[in-house]
Amino acid sequence: MTTLTAFASLQDSRLSDVQTWSAFGTSWSSAEQKILECCAIQVETDDVKTFVFRCPDFAALAFEPGQFITLSLTLDGLSLSRCYTLSSTPTRPFNFAITVKRVPGGPVSNWLHDHLQVGSRLLAAGPAGIFTPVGHPQRKLLYLSAGSGVTPLMAMTRAAFDLGGDPDLAFVHSARTPQDIIFRAELAQLQAARRHLKVFAICEASGAETDWQGPLGRLDLALLERLVPDFREREVFTCGPQGYMDAVQRTLREGGFDLSHYHQESFAIGSPTAPVDAAPATVGETLFTVTLARSGKVFKMAGDQTVLSAAKRAGAIVPSSCGQGLCGTCKTALLEGQVEMQHAGGIRQREIDRGLRLLCCSKPTSDLVLDL
Ligand SMILES: Cc1cc2nc3c(=O)[nH]c(=O)nc-3n(C[C@H](O)[C@H](O)[C@H](O)COP(=O)(O)OP(=O)(O)OC[C@H]3O[C@@H](n4cnc5c(N)ncnc54)[C@H](O)[C@@H]3O)c2cc1C
Ligand code: FES
Repeated sequence: MTTLTAFASLQDSRLSDVQTWSAFGTSWSSAEQKILECCAIQVETDDVKTFVFRCPDFAALAFEPGQFITLSLTLDGLSLSRCYTLSSTPTRPFNFAITVKRVPGGPVSNWLHDHLQVGSRLLAAGPAGIFTPVGHPQRKLLYLSAGSGVTPLMAMTRAAFDLGGDPDLAFVHSARTPQDIIFRAELAQLQAARRHLKVFAICEASGAETDWQGPLGRLDLALLERLVPDFREREVFTCGPQGYMDAVQRTLREGGFDLSHYHQESFAIGSPTAPVDAAPATVGETLFTVTLARSGKVFKMAGDQTVLSAAKRAGAIVPSSCGQGLCGTCKTALLEGQVEMQHAGGIRQREIDRGLRLLCCSKPTSDLVLDL
């Protein structure tokens, strides 16, 4: 092994080793809520702002690059929880930044943009999520993002370079127009300083920047081959709207990419306050009876619906955020009965052993009694 290769391997193992990240601060579990105080606000684009937080006692807290926190707010008397990726790097563990895009009509993203100020305090549940470099050692990386999906990949990029190395990283970001490219200046600066970082932006239209020289349109196989000819040799991390990620997967498959080296995270959710899969049961369908032990509410639901959507439909107040078994917000004790749960890392085995379940990704296979 040459010295250069040995150095690169050391880098890989540091990025992908869970202990690298736990060393930067005190552990903060996803089950624990902490108060965070906003200490800076930065405008990124017309509809994106970064909010930087710190602990009021200036504690350093550990997380993995790419993980998200879950904010809990009460707006107009309604308790709302939303996940936001930490766009800052765990190598700077006194600050926790989230970069938020306004969603038209969305209560939390617009409230943050319009009302959060330096000095404001919020409650946040600790870092969660498995969309991180941990466990995926690979010398060459390809990050593909669209819109606000850039945030976990930016955290990973900042973290990788803060560790002091020069990983071979191709970062391809898609935006509506050049003015919508988030972190444009910082990525350009990083690229100028690092030999092995290649940053590309693809815009759907040139917008007000009529002299835009970069590619126009959408990412497809021909463009990917041109920008990153060795993409088949890279570990791929993708984040963006669902349609974008579906197109990326199709492109990679078409290009003969081995999808065992593909990782993605979706921000796309059905509205957490208005469940989408809660169609009423049809005649003849097997129905299960669900009893909410604390409120005394009882309702019937079909086995092809999630317990969360049926409970909300029945008027129960259940905190939830990601809707995909990631964040742990909807964790509830199942007192009686059985469910089939397909989670995505939002619950630990020891919690399952204690009878807890994530209602957003659980479907009943018997009558249930829930601690709600
Ligand atoms: C793991 C995870 C990490 C996330 N990280 C970030 C982040 O770093 N930055 C960020 O801006 N957002 C992020 N989100 C999305 C965020 O949690 C909220 O969903 C978003 O800010 C909208 O919240 P809202 O209350 O304003 O609107 P909501 O009430 O949540 O949504 C209003 C409507 O918009 C739709 N919608 C929600 N989110 C999106 C979206 N991203 N794109 C298009 N339509 C949407 C909903 O389906 C709904 O119909 C993340 C989500 C998850 C699950
Ligand atoms: S709402 Fe996130 S795990 Fe259920």
